[in-house]
Amino acid sequence: MEPLHEIRLDRAAIHRGHLILVNHEHSVRQTEKSANIIPLHNILTFDKEQQDISLEKTCLQQLSALLIACHAMDDIIIVSGYRSREEQQELYENSLQENGAAFTASYVACPNESEHQTGLAVDVGENAENVDFICPSFPTHGVCQNFKQLAAEYGFIQRYKEGKEHITKIACEPWHFRYVGFPHSVILEQHGFCLEEYTQFLKQYGFHHEHLYIEHKSSVIEIYYMAAEEDITTVPITNEEQYHLSGNNIDGFVITVFHEKGSEHNGF
Ligand code: DAL
Ligand code: ZN
Repeated sequence: MEPLHEIRLDRAAIHRGHLILVNHEHSVRQTEKSANIIPLHNILTFDKEQQDISLEKTCLQQLSALLIACHAMDDIIIVSGYRSREEQQELYENSLQENGAAFTASYVACPNESEHQTGLAVDVGENAENVDFICPSFPTHGVCQNFKQLAAEYGFIQRYKEGKEHITKIACEPWHFRYVGFPHSVILEQHGFCLEEYTQFLKQYGFHHEHLYIEHKSSVIEIYYMAAEEDITTVPITNEEQYHLSGNNIDGFVITVFHEKGSEHNGF
């Protein structure tokens, strides 16, 4: 067998990637707007202050594909995407004044604890006369329902679901979708996990243990976890041609490797 490809990552890399968990316990570390956060084009937006809405590049590509797939380009608008720390702070403070502490704690994350600061979260709304910026209407019928049903195939999850409030500490938000990438989105949905639960679930698939395998069309997708070392972590990659790596924003890395079905690869 050929020697495994390896990559070396410094610990700070755990705070980057599509699978980072951002919540009340794990804050955003990348506080500057990164170069891969880009403005939306040809997508309907609700723009309170006439500023561009931006999203992380892959998230934006997949969102466009999802809107096209469910014929929603005219009926669903993008209400909010990337927010800087300052914008999240302003939203939080304004909401405290206008809506009070209980509402704000349920629907607005504290500055540096919002997924919107990563560019991987998008609030969508039904295209209507009056759109609420914090809680846009996103009904469970018509194109909005189609969007919801197809979202996982395109790498998105409804991040804050009913029944998970005790874990996420955020109320049910039918409008807030988070890009985590395929097939993670589908696994999350199948198991009924929220992202906090999925992050924990993946830890059992350490590189030196059994890996998680998902069959999809002509490929087999292999997923494993690697705990981060204090300084440099050497991460083995079972197919350097096609893989995706993300930090979990806590203590390690999740590696997603795509194999052609029938090809020889480690452990399957
Ligand atoms: N509405 C979500 C929780 C946020 O403010 O990030
Ligand atoms: Zn949101």
